[in-house]
Amino acid sequence: MPDHFQRADQVLDLGGQASASGSLQKVYPYPGREDLLIKVVRPNFVAERWTGLRGAIKRLRRLGALTGASRVIMEHLALRNAGVKPGRHVQEFVGLVETTQGVGVVVRAVRGRDGRYAETLRTIVKEGRFGPDIEAMLDEFEAWLLSTPIIVGDLHMGNVVLGFDGEHGERLVLIDGMGEKNFVPLNTWFPVLNRANTRDRIRRMRRIVNAKRAAASPR
Ligand SMILES: Nc1ncnc2c1ncn2[C@@H]1O[C@H](COP(=O)(O)OP(=O)(O)OP(=O)(O)O)[C@@H](O)[C@H]1O
Ligand SMILES: [Mg+2]
Repeated sequence: MPDHFQRADQVLDLGGQASASGSLQKVYPYPGREDLLIKVVRPNFVAERWTGLRGAIKRLRRLGALTGASRVIMEHLALRNAGVKPGRHVQEFVGLVETTQGVGVVVRAVRGRDGRYAETLRTIVKEGRFGPDIEAMLDEFEAWLLSTPIIVGDLHMGNVVLGFDGEHGERLVLIDGMGEKNFVPLNTWFPVLNRANTRDRIRRMRRIVNAKRAAASPR
């Protein structure tokens, strides 16, 4: 039987180069697994970003810099509880792994038609490739989010990618920014407020997409 779990003395070595990096996390290919990525929090994230009074309050969080990882897990469980299989419009959470860089969140890598890691909406818009086809995909993405219990805490063009695979075809996928961020978890308590929040965040992102489209030069 395959052994799916790390033994207590095993730590995955992430000595190699990260494949992508956001402001919070470093994203590594899972060694030996083309279909998986590992996300670890940047080592200096708390020192650099949690500064001032707001930062001091954030440092009191029980999960500290792992708060983001807990949101990914919570949203995965909320989808599973609703009978929704992830992967269509939200990246698939696979598990946690102990690494040389700390706790790693393992997710399914989303790839584009060319087989490379999927491009973000930011890149597509910047390069003037956001056309009616992707606009229609954004409508579908919004409708899907609204039909599930998922909470969208931080929606921007860098957190949405254009993915393609045999099971789902081409579609937009949320790869980050999921989960409740409010101190009083209103979206968790009230689905109607959650849907209003999702609509509002998509509307704001559309506004930015349209402003950037106007400025972008089509290829
Ligand atoms: N599941 C995935 N499949 C393919 N590429 C991904 C995936 N997750 C992340 N990426 C790539 O890695 C980049 C950074 O990932 P992510 O947005 O999760 O990090 P972050 O540090 O939390 O970002 P932010 O800057 O929004 O805080 C993404 O913009 C995307 O290019
Ligand atoms: Mg991000």
